[in-house]
Amino acid sequence: AWSQVQQGPPDAILGITEAFKKDSNPKKINLGVGAYRDDKGKPYVLPSVKEAEQKVVKANLDKEYAGITGVPEFAKAAALLAYGPDSAALQEGRIAITQSISGTGALRIGGAFLQRHYPGAKTIYIPTPSWANHKAVFSDSGLEIKQYRYYNKDTIGLDFDGMVADIKAMPKGSIILLHACAHNPTGVDPTEEQWRAISDAAKQGDHFPFFDMAYQGFASGDTNKDAFALRYFIEQGHYPCLAQSFAKNMGLYGERVGAFSIVTSSPEEKARVDSQIKILVRPLYSNPPVHGARIASTILNDSALNKQWLGEVKGMADRIIKMRALLKENLEKLGSKHNWDHITSQIGMFAYTGLTPEQMTKLAEEHSVYATKDGRISVAGITSENVGRLAEAIYKVKG
Ligand code: LMR
Repeated sequence: AWSQVQQGPPDAILGITEAFKKDSNPKKINLGVGAYRDDKGKPYVLPSVKEAEQKVVKANLDKEYAGITGVPEFAKAAALLAYGPDSAALQEGRIAITQSISGTGALRIGGAFLQRHYPGAKTIYIPTPSWANHKAVFSDSGLEIKQYRYYNKDTIGLDFDGMVADIKAMPKGSIILLHACAHNPTGVDPTEEQWRAISDAAKQGDHFPFFDMAYQGFASGDTNKDAFALRYFIEQGHYPCLAQSFAKNMGLYGERVGAFSIVTSSPEEKARVDSQIKILVRPLYSNPPVHGARIASTILNDSALNKQWLGEVKGMADRIIKMRALLKENLEKLGSKHNWDHITSQIGMFAYTGLTPEQMTKLAEEHSVYATKDGRISVAGITSENVGRLAEAIYKVKG
């Protein structure tokens, strides 16, 4: 029955792990998928997560279905983390929220909601470049994808003027996808001043901001600071929607913990939006898994654990910053004539090295260093031990 089915390409990001596993070189390095590793290169289960998990087990809860929108204490705490205790929208009960299958699931619910209910054109503008999965998620949700300028290859920084010009040129009421912090793949974020101008431009065009916040805490080590753009937009009178992930900041990757929320203008509007989110989610997966959400909820709702967790997030962010500095230092020591300042000026989990797809292929084939073809490396996979070898490999393919 399937003779007409064509062989598809491997996934741009997750396919890297498959190639890595096949390599028999004991010194191989995987910098593909954005997943945090400790300095020994091992996956890291946060101590706060271990403790919260023990608490969940001890509570001896049943395994009944959650409601369609998930574990209520989790969703409430997730909203508080994103929007902050001073959020008027939160205090006034105007934020519709549902637990989701991590960030991807949140984006997909958002895409489907907009496709069904957004009154304007069903087109979403995403940055160039953006997370490799954004296009697929939104086009599978039935939205048309267009792009706006974001990254400037020449300055290895933000194309701020291009971005603002593109936002101004969009048809009135366009949907714009914005990475709230730690832009993936470039690690280049607007400054607070630039965010203000972006908010103004979006406001002038009556555009609808869709924030993707997969790295809250990972950019600066401070969850409030990383939520600046989202909170600022709301203060300025935007009514955005938001995809949240707890994969990175709690290391809950495989537990698939996330949330999708929409800021509405009244509790009555929120209730209507909530009802439609439920109607969307029910035929997709009925209701989300409970275990990971219970862990996240335990951490967020227990002040001692919450404090401990924030320290651990900072610890992860700090180790990444250290690895950036070491990589740059090693490249300079080898005598590389290129300017590697961007390795340390970029933030979040990734460095956008500027290596070409051909150089990335060489890195994999000749040096067993695996990362995505766009030149992105997951700094979280660098360790004190492999950084020297990595720098040599980069030096050999790029000079
Ligand atoms: C990444 O960009 O590597 C992560 O967001 C993981 C993923 O699912 O792609």
